[in-house]
Amino acid sequence: MVQTYRQLRLDLGAALAGFLDHAEAHAESLRWFEEGLGLSRSWMAAHGGDLVPDEVRLQVSDWVRRRRTGEPWAYILGWCLFRERRFRVSPATLIPRPETELLVEAALDVGRRLRVDRCVDVGTGSGIIAASLALETDWQVSATDLSAGALAVARQNAAELGARLAFFEGNLLDAIPDPLGLVVANLPYVDPADEPGLQRELAFEPASALFAPDRGLALSTQLLERARARQAPACLLEIGADQGGELCRRALGAGWRKAMVHQDLAGHDRILVALGIPVLPGDP
Ligand SMILES: C[S@@+](CC[C@H](N)C(=O)[O-])C[C@H]1O[C@@H](n2cnc3c(N)ncnc32)[C@H](O)[C@@H]1O
Repeated sequence: MVQTYRQLRLDLGAALAGFLDHAEAHAESLRWFEEGLGLSRSWMAAHGGDLVPDEVRLQVSDWVRRRRTGEPWAYILGWCLFRERRFRVSPATLIPRPETELLVEAALDVGRRLRVDRCVDVGTGSGIIAASLALETDWQVSATDLSAGALAVARQNAAELGARLAFFEGNLLDAIPDPLGLVVANLPYVDPADEPGLQRELAFEPASALFAPDRGLALSTQLLERARARQAPACLLEIGADQGGELCRRALGAGWRKAMVHQDLAGHDRILVALGIPVLPGDP
């Protein structure tokens, strides 16, 4: 079938609107052109009337077929942007979420105030947190995960981005030598009881990257306890929307001097900061 790029984009928007809401379908069709086909809006303005080669048309219909099953666009594409850097993702890794940028911002702030010289990213997945911190500071950064598949992707991302990281495979902090430095983690925190109501896209992500026992709190609690026992100066966690109060209590129970929660732009609990030593001179 003879088709121009402009027509292809209209047809793509209509195909996506068959299973996404209208705004999402429009936004995704633009992303597919830019990220998937590498065709910018200015290219489209100049060449929208050009004819689409068969291989491009077939490629797009294969993407639509996969996307219709619920497969996330980032897995189809094989990469995702985080802090304006391109990170590979695979079905062994979680797809980076924009809210995790808040965790990186908080870690940069707390780490600089505490003048740390090292940190560890626990549950590194594709390596977004560890690589961002390594590229934006002069800290020695370690990255650890239980999943060998995720670590392979994180290693590749670090190599491609020029981030110097030390990698360790293991449970929580088990494989990390002392001293730990700042502990940063986006561990699984979804309550398994919530699984039936979740978006179908999440079924494509590894369950071991999403769910934790004890209403989603088990791994965050264990990490707070272990990081405190090993005298980390601070532990920063990405947390679930309603987990702040309970995790603050658990952090103080584990012996942290202070625990506070930062909320995201939607007003949900998102980052827990547990401090073992004062951040500012004179802090209580
Ligand atoms: C929510 S994903 C976060 C991935 C990445 N840090 C990010 O923010 O996109 C959680 C990661 O923790 C890892 N994980 C789960 N349980 C773990 C454990 N007990 N010890 C270490 N890593 C674990 C998973 O394999 C997964 O890669």
